[in-house]
Amino acid sequence: MSSMADQFGFFSRRCVWVNGPIIVGAGPSGLAVAACLKEHGVPSVILERSDCIASLWQKRTYDRLKLHLPKQFCQLPRFPFPEHYPEYPTKQQFIDYLESYAKHLEISPRFNQSVQLARYDETCGLWRVRTTGTGTAAGCRSQEVEYIGRWLVVATGENAESVVPELDGLREFGGDVMHVCDYKSGEAYRGKRVLVVGCGNSGMEVCLDLCDYDAFPAMVVRDSVHVLPREVLGKSTFELAVLLMKWLPLWLVDKILLVLAWLALGNIERCGLRRPSTGPLALKNTEGRTPVLDTGALGKIRSGDIKVVPGIKRFSPGKVALVDGQVLDIDSVVLATGYRSNVPQWLQGCEFFSKDGFPKTTFPNGWKGQSGLYAVGFTRRGLSGASSDAVRTAKDIGRMWKEELKPAKRPVACHRRCISQI
Ligand SMILES: Cc1cc2nc3c(=O)[nH]c(=O)nc-3n(C[C@H](O)[C@H](O)[C@H](O)COP(=O)(O)OP(=O)(O)OC[C@H]3O[C@@H](n4cnc5c(N)ncnc54)[C@H](O)[C@@H]3O)c2cc1C
Ligand SMILES: NC(=O)c1ccc[n+]([C@@H]2O[C@H](COP(=O)([O-])OP(=O)(O)OC[C@H]3O[C@@H](n4cnc5c(N)ncnc54)[C@H](OP(=O)(O)O)[C@@H]3O)[C@@H](O)[C@H]2O)c1
Repeated sequence: MSSMADQFGFFSRRCVWVNGPIIVGAGPSGLAVAACLKEHGVPSVILERSDCIASLWQKRTYDRLKLHLPKQFCQLPRFPFPEHYPEYPTKQQFIDYLESYAKHLEISPRFNQSVQLARYDETCGLWRVRTTGTGTAAGCRSQEVEYIGRWLVVATGENAESVVPELDGLREFGGDVMHVCDYKSGEAYRGKRVLVVGCGNSGMEVCLDLCDYDAFPAMVVRDSVHVLPREVLGKSTFELAVLLMKWLPLWLVDKILLVLAWLALGNIERCGLRRPSTGPLALKNTEGRTPVLDTGALGKIRSGDIKVVPGIKRFSPGKVALVDGQVLDIDSVVLATGYRSNVPQWLQGCEFFSKDGFPKTTFPNGWKGQSGLYAVGFTRRGLSGASSDAVRTAKDIGRMWKEELKPAKRPVACHRRCISQI
């Protein structure tokens, strides 16, 4: 007990007893699980490092973003999208929807609470979650709080941190370099030659946006990539895949998708985009690589407005040398190089998550760990996966809440300094 007390600075920070689950993250997953818990009569506390809900959507995405799956696959449990919303809601419509979701279901996260450490304390059979304040108000930053509770729900997302690769010579490059999470629109790039590193959905769409602002994008495609039409004959490709998966094996659905992609988009290899040998759904399941749903970038590649270039060798002042020997003059670099989970940084002593911050058990069984640990939103299936995790998690905790536990009305007995209760 004394070593645990030392490690957690047990006697030096404010402790808060949480009557119900502690949820980390106020994105769509955290909101969805809090809403479903409420339906089961279970109170919860959401800890969010930012100062708003859905900070990924509000602060770290570009302006032209729309949901790329039809709205019925993106709405959260218990509260549908407004009927007048289009098939693919805009980023702002999605944010408005999430704001109304939180308001309607009376969910009030604790903002500016960044979780630094969470650990299961075997001695008391409780989760202990340490936060530091991230707000700008005086004294806020230094405030440390320890939340203590019976259940921990991890909802920090698959995209919690940006991936910024080490690229040779980038420090000497001299022009502006940003990760796509800070890119808003092509306005600042008019007339500029921009190297966009990465050809996922972000890389492709940023290139398209740059074209709309009369910039000159070159997109780095270091490997193969699956591009699928967003719709086939007016029907969403994703919806079609979900439908086909009900009757057919995955390999056959992949084959059908590739034939449809060929019919709708033609041979993308002619644009310098090589397809992986594994099918798009199989690749998503095995490696988590998302196929690109084309929203117009392919047309711009065909017309030559977006230049496709191979991997980077090294940067030098105002230039980039590529692995095929070409050297390009460039003004700016946008790193559309992806995101990663941050769970290993703060969740300790737990075998449930792998080193890459995803549950070791895959969908649909990766939502429940041991000792009251849950993961919501790590299915690599976007918002529909998050909703299905949230429903399962809330049902499970709700059952225990009713059967096992009489809601604790007093602070736990394992220490003396548990000051407040929420
Ligand atoms: C550009 C972009 C577009 C996307 N478009 C779609 C789409 O159209 N359809 C779709 O289904 N999916 C899409 N996704 C996937 C996206 O991840 C999900 O839609 C959704 O945001 C996942 O919700 P989440 O709550 O699990 O994670 P997030 O939205 O990332 O929310 C996690 C929250 O946890 C907080 N947090 C993280 N670490 C800590 C910590 N240590 N302490 C406290 N709080 C913390 C974060 O600040 C954040 O608010 C997109 C992703 C990106 C990057
Ligand atoms: N709603 C929408 O329309 C929308 C828009 C954007 C994003 N999203 C979603 O957001 C998530 C993240 O998408 P994302 O496009 O940001 O990331 P991503 O899918 O992980 O793609 C990252 C890209 O960067 C490349 N890359 C990484 N390191 C590199 C390096 N050192 N040199 C060259 N290339 C490098 C990767 O290439 P390799 O494949 O070779 O590793 C890949 O092409 C996905 O789930 C996506 O579907 C959705």
